[in-house]
Amino acid sequence: TLPAPSPADLLAWYDRHARTLPWRVGPKAGRNGTRPDPYRVWLSEVMLQQTTVTAVKPYFETFTRNWPTVADLAAAPDEAVLAAWAGLGYYSRARNLIACARAVAFDHGGVFPDSEAGLRALPGIGAYTAAAIAAIAFDRPAAVVDGNVERVLARVFAVETPLPAAKRDIGRLQASLTPAGRPGDYAQAMMDLGATICTPKRPACVLCPWQACCAAHAAGTETLYPVRPAR
Ligand code: ADE
Repeated sequence: TLPAPSPADLLAWYDRHARTLPWRVGPKAGRNGTRPDPYRVWLSEVMLQQTTVTAVKPYFETFTRNWPTVADLAAAPDEAVLAAWAGLGYYSRARNLIACARAVAFDHGGVFPDSEAGLRALPGIGAYTAAAIAAIAFDRPAAVVDGNVERVLARVFAVETPLPAAKRDIGRLQASLTPAGRPGDYAQAMMDLGATICTPKRPACVLCPWQACCAAHAAGTETLYPVRPAR
């Protein structure tokens, strides 16, 4: 029988291999008093919802240069924000982005809510985004589950239930693994592991900090997970 996956081992891997991304702060975030700016975390997570990290980077740089704070974004004309969004797609996201910036600026005094429930009440913020902001910006032990996290956990635990039915079980697994200490780093470590090591087609298991605890790896069946519904 396999050892349980250790969040501490994953965090140690992340400390060495985290991707350098413009919305992340330095490697000591949360341990020297530096917290990522909730506005930048929110903006990056909304942009990353249906768009790749590579495509998002230049847009994120433009937005934060043009509008360094949520108050600046809230005060911008709709046309200017929609023009800056051009190319990212899914324009409803840009409409919600404007509405959310104005809600935070005008209804919350420019301060993002620090709980999942408070965040979910804002325009365009669903379960994933609320959990990501709560964990990354506010150090809340929220269970953050995106497609990368689903793939990693489906493999580590050899989850036989097909998606999307497996989402509930995977959410519970992520909640049970999320550490109180560094929940935001843990969430982003899972995303980086899924994006760079535990990839869909040819996972680089030899480099994986969780190789020894992965049920799919033990069986040589990594690429069979997550199980897709028969069709
Ligand atoms: N995808 C969505 N959010 C992300 C983040 N914070 N880091 C890396 N990839 C992500």
